[in-house]
Amino acid sequence: MSDGRLAGRVAVVVGGGHRGAGPGGVTGIGFATATTFARHGARVAVVDADAEAAERTVAAVVAEGGEALALVADATDDDQVRAAVAAVVAAFGAVDVVHTNIGGTALGSVEDMALHAWRASFALNLDTVFLAAKHTLPHLAVRGGSLITMSSVASIRSTGYPYPGYAAAKAAVNQLTRTLAVEYAGRGVRANAILAGLIDTPLVYRQLAGGSEAATRADRAARSPTGAMGAAQDVADAALFLASDESRYITGVLLPVDGGLHVRAC
Ligand SMILES: NC(=O)c1ccc[n+]([C@@H]2O[C@H](COP(=O)([O-])OP(=O)(O)OC[C@H]3O[C@@H](n4cnc5c(N)ncnc54)[C@H](O)[C@@H]3O)[C@@H](O)[C@H]2O)c1
Repeated sequence: MSDGRLAGRVAVVVGGGHRGAGPGGVTGIGFATATTFARHGARVAVVDADAEAAERTVAAVVAEGGEALALVADATDDDQVRAAVAAVVAAFGAVDVVHTNIGGTALGSVEDMALHAWRASFALNLDTVFLAAKHTLPHLAVRGGSLITMSSVASIRSTGYPYPGYAAAKAAVNQLTRTLAVEYAGRGVRANAILAGLIDTPLVYRQLAGGSEAATRADRAARSPTGAMGAAQDVADAALFLASDESRYITGVLLPVDGGLHVRAC
């Protein structure tokens, strides 16, 4: 139920589409975040390369009585991101909250990884954040705002998965976020990163599954200090806090949402 925490705000979720539920009906973090922002009063722009995925999220928001706009863009493309942000401002008149959700892993060692795969990992995980920030910061600075970047515990410690490009790109996301926090603090824009741990999303079964769904779930549960994966909603709730005025004096933070995974040594 809405408490109006984001009433009057315009939120942009880059990679907020819903490509279909995973095992057990789990959804992505982008979908959970977009619907949570809307539930708390924000008008939400869902930017996604997959038009149907974006429309699914918008339909879910509208079904709950919210307002949302689907925009199709490849978030690694400068011109397309610029155009998408311009379309948000044309439709909603402002940008107050930006959540950069896009990211993904490519498994393999550095020795096995081709240079184009390394660069693709940086394009997906880092360029998307750079471009979203580049084109929204002028708008966020108009009346103050919140930039939330999706990082991973893999940016600060080994999670046991071999994805060096992902880990390095997410570490760069962290420092880009912290740099922006300082640069824009005087202009009323906060920038914080969420370091997600082992979250139960469809992405996990697409990108990390070596065996059955049940085996993937059990393996990830065993890796978590709590004995269970987190839910996309756990991340969305953290994003809601970082988007809202309750976090108005918090910027430059790398916030783990991981059931304590970042603390554990083994
Ligand atoms: N699930 C986990 O355990 C976990 C752990 C740590 C971090 N994360 C991070 O969470 C984020 C993923 O969240 P999710 O589960 O919602 O993923 P998701 O795959 O469900 O959603 C990503 C969306 O981004 C869109 N997309 C992909 N590439 C795009 C591009 N170039 N341009 C525009 N749209 C594009 C997809 O169509 C999709 O709708 C990533 O940043 C990931 O690294 C997840």
